[in-house]
Amino acid sequence: MTDMHWDNAITEVTPTKINIRGYPVQELMGRMTFAQVIWLVIMGDLPDENTSKLIETILIQTIDHGPAPPSCQTVRCVTSTGANLQTAVASGIMCMNRFHGGAIEGCFHALQDGIKLVRDEGISFDDAAVKLIDIYRKEGKRIPGFGHQLHKIDPRTVRLFEICGEIGFDGDNIRMVKALEKAFADSGKPLTLNINGATGAVLGDLGVPPNLMSGFFMMSRVPGLIAHSVEEMDRMRPMRKIHPTDYGYDGEPERHLE
Ligand SMILES: CC(C)(COP(=O)(O)OP(=O)(O)OC[C@H]1O[C@@H](n2cnc3c(N)ncnc32)[C@H](O)[C@@H]1OP(=O)(O)O)[C@@H](O)C(=O)NCCC(=O)NCCS
Repeated sequence: MTDMHWDNAITEVTPTKINIRGYPVQELMGRMTFAQVIWLVIMGDLPDENTSKLIETILIQTIDHGPAPPSCQTVRCVTSTGANLQTAVASGIMCMNRFHGGAIEGCFHALQDGIKLVRDEGISFDDAAVKLIDIYRKEGKRIPGFGHQLHKIDPRTVRLFEICGEIGFDGDNIRMVKALEKAFADSGKPLTLNINGATGAVLGDLGVPPNLMSGFFMMSRVPGLIAHSVEEMDRMRPMRKIHPTDYGYDGEPERHLE
């Protein structure tokens, strides 16, 4: 505490310094990745190597998902009225709620319910998953992070867990989400473990507080929203009727890194 009216514990700014969580910003520049400094400013300290790799992955995996998601439809609609870039992108962020991006935090809370069953009842993760699905079904609730309108298998989930495997990262939330995926499959009604569900598990095992989780989705998606807004400005007629599903892709054909 200082003797000022109020304090912030994030950045110290004086005429001669800009210290982010104590580190001079010019020391971070050129030495740290954007993902590492995002973790620093939000979580308060620099991440270890595994955390850096996972945050980098999480920021890339949902960078864009085409024009269909509500945030992108809204950005294109608002852009077509003549709005500037910041207004259009802000409108997209306002769409990120319980059912769009919010399933990251929602899934984490469901996983915590499952883990509580494991601990309280001394049952396995697999048994807790079956029980949790039954409890949610009886309460008329869906388990956030499961199901997808397009992807039967979400390629982003597969890659995220592959990377977790490569670096030996695991935890109770990841165990629980995999047990739920198995339980849905065994029930004869398989449901896609979507990227939001997988991300809720990984961020949970990284110790990210639940009320911060959707921030990672926002940060990931903003570049995609910027690209769509600028394409709308440059390529489309103002005030056009924007069909929600009847659109194509005429960009670069598939290409690969190697
Ligand atoms: C994403 C979502 C809207 C896709 O829905 P959809 O493919 O149109 O599927 P429907 O809403 O038609 O549901 C089909 C069946 O699966 C069930 N179902 C779908 N998602 C479910 C979930 N997350 N948990 C439990 N049951 C689910 C429905 O209850 C329905 O069962 P029924 O046939 O017995 O009535 C839906 O799966 C959902 O609400 N998921 C949770 C939220 C979420 O993860 N959002 C992020 C998406 S990236």
